Amino acid sequence: MLTSPNWEKTSNKLKVSEDVFIYFKDNTPFLVDTRKHEEYEIDDPAVITEIAGFLNGAEISPETLQNFKEVNILTPETQKPLFRNFQNDILDLFHEACKDVLDQTDVCSPTEFSDAFVATCEKIDGEEPPARSKSVALSGVQPIFLPEFNRDSLNETSLFSALDRRKTIREFYPHTLSQQDLSNFLFSAFGYFHDYKKEECKEYTPFRRRSSPAGGCLQSTEAFLTVFNVEGVAPGIYWYEPEQHALLKVRDAISYEELSSLLISQYFGANCSVGVFIASNLERFGWKYQTTRAYRALCLEAGHFSQTAQLCATALGLNTWITAAFKDVRVEELLSITEERTIPLMFLGIGKGRYHPMNSIMESRLKRST
Ligand SMILES: Cc1cc2nc3c(=O)[nH]c(=O)nc-3n(C[C@H](O)[C@H](O)[C@H](O)COP(=O)(O)O)c2cc1C
Repeated sequence: MLTSPNWEKTSNKLKVSEDVFIYFKDNTPFLVDTRKHEEYEIDDPAVITEIAGFLNGAEISPETLQNFKEVNILTPETQKPLFRNFQNDILDLFHEACKDVLDQTDVCSPTEFSDAFVATCEKIDGEEPPARSKSVALSGVQPIFLPEFNRDSLNETSLFSALDRRKTIREFYPHTLSQQDLSNFLFSAFGYFHDYKKEECKEYTPFRRRSSPAGGCLQSTEAFLTVFNVEGVAPGIYWYEPEQHALLKVRDAISYEELSSLLISQYFGANCSVGVFIASNLERFGWKYQTTRAYRALCLEAGHFSQTAQLCATALGLNTWITAAFKDVRVEELLSITEERTIPLMFLGIGKGRYHPMNSIMESRLKRST
């Protein structure tokens, strides 16, 4: 039964709800109702014909009408869509589809909550999470072992100074990064930073910890490098393998022009010593997080890694430029992750450059126009 008091008055004025969408999988249509957070398999494709019929003004049987109201396909014409904030309908729907998807059970006691937590841990304990970047790891390439992380390298700068000095710059100067600096940067931002505290780390076994928090401690965030100007490392694309604190080569070098083309003509990465594509391994993340909300969490995780990486680079006396705008498919091809269900989320250029938010070309164009 319908509960809205206005329903009967408007029942002759119905519209197809703006809060539902239909998608297809294996030739089967599914209806997602973002208002009720329900998803239905449409077992009879005739439903789609009936919706089309409704849109064309055809008569609809009382039974179908009732069904359509129940699953929110049809709503009163006066019903406002749930959420329209993004100025992008698909994003609005996606946002709704991510909301309140976690277990909504009523408040339980700390003991009940802990028991449920332990049950989840035990379930997970029995399974092995998908491997990290396996195609690169299994490619048989010889790892390039990086020098050991020098802890003192970060001790010289206070947190205040790193925060104070971090700035997005958009013009790098040619600068050869030492392998030690690269090692210090990668280990502090993406390495298994806490491993030396052996006793403490046992708590997290089989997982490992890094300097940024990670959803479920799964470490689904990966660093792929575009090496341009690093002492003793041939320019190329590499995956940073934290287990061995090593670089594994994925493919040969790209030019700064190619980088700019990947970054939709943003040329600010020119002359950076090294670039980092921060990527998320969905296979690993999705092993634990299977709701739509996972998308939020993995972006947040990448954001944490990005900020830590920028602070580490800054503390090491380097400058950074960040962008989330790039050609996804081409970057996935570049990193050889198309088969892996790993997605690039950000690019970070690192090196030494002009400590100013503007590239000088932009600045001179701006001056000319004002
Ligand atoms: C998620 C995200 C995406 C960004 N994308 C770009 C970008 O595409 N191009 C760019 O030049 N800067 C980009 N930036 C950098 C911002 O423009 C910059 O952080 C902002 O202007 C503030 O400057 P600050 O980082 O020096 O504090 C991005 C920053 C973030 C956090």
